[in-house]
Amino acid sequence: MANELKIGIILGSTRPGRVSPQVGKWVKEIADKRNDATYEIVDIRTFNLPFLGDPDGEAQFNAWKEKLNTLDGFVFIVAEYNHSITGALKNALDCARDEWNNKAAGIVSYGSTGGARAAEHLRGILGELSVADVRIHPTLSLFLDFENFTTFKPQALHLDNVNIMLDQVNAWSRALKPLRN
Ligand SMILES: Cc1cc2nc3c(=O)[nH]c(=O)nc-3n(C[C@H](O)[C@H](O)[C@H](O)COP(=O)(O)O)c2cc1C
Repeated sequence: MANELKIGIILGSTRPGRVSPQVGKWVKEIADKRNDATYEIVDIRTFNLPFLGDPDGEAQFNAWKEKLNTLDGFVFIVAEYNHSITGALKNALDCARDEWNNKAAGIVSYGSTGGARAAEHLRGILGELSVADVRIHPTLSLFLDFENFTTFKPQALHLDNVNIMLDQVNAWSRALKPLRN
C-alpha cells in the first residue's frame, strides 16, 4: 500500500553481548500485532559505520542513508552509557542529515534509572535533526526488567506504554508526510 508507514526500530548499541536485540525484538512483536505499519529492526551494527569523515566509509555511509530514506519514523532502542547514548548511536545519527528530517520518533530506553538520562540527551540531538520525538517513553530498569542484567524479562506494565508511544509515532509520522514529499 502506497500510504503505508514504515517504522524502523533502531538498535542503539553494538557491543558483543548487548541486550538491545532482545528489547528491539520485544518492541517489534508488540508492534506487529497492531497491523498499522510495517516495522523492521534496523541494526546499526550490520552497517559497519566508520566514524563520520572516514574517507573509506562512503559505501557504508550511503547504505545507511539509503536505509533511512525508506523509513517514515523510528523507535530508538537506547542503552545508557555514561549518562548518555552510545557512541555508536551518536555516530549513526551524525552520519546522515536530510534523511532524518521531518520524521517522528519514539524512544525505548534502559539502564539503572531506565536510561532516562540517555533518552533526554537523545531528545536534544533529535531536535537538531528535525525529528519530532513523541512524549510517551517506556523506560526499562536493568534491575526490574532484566534477569542478571542480561536476560530481558519486561514487567507487564510496560506494554501499554509501548502501544501509546507507537500510536504517537505513527500519528506524527503520517502527519509529517507532506513535508517529506
Ligand atoms: C561503557 C558503559 C557505560 C555505562 N554507563 C551507564 C550509565 O551511565 N548509566 C546506566 O544506567 N548504565 C550504564 N551502563 C550499563 C548499561 O546500561 C547496560 O550494560 C546495558 O545493558 C547496556 O546496553 P547494551 O547491553 O545494549 O550494550 C554502562 C555500560 C557500559 C558498557
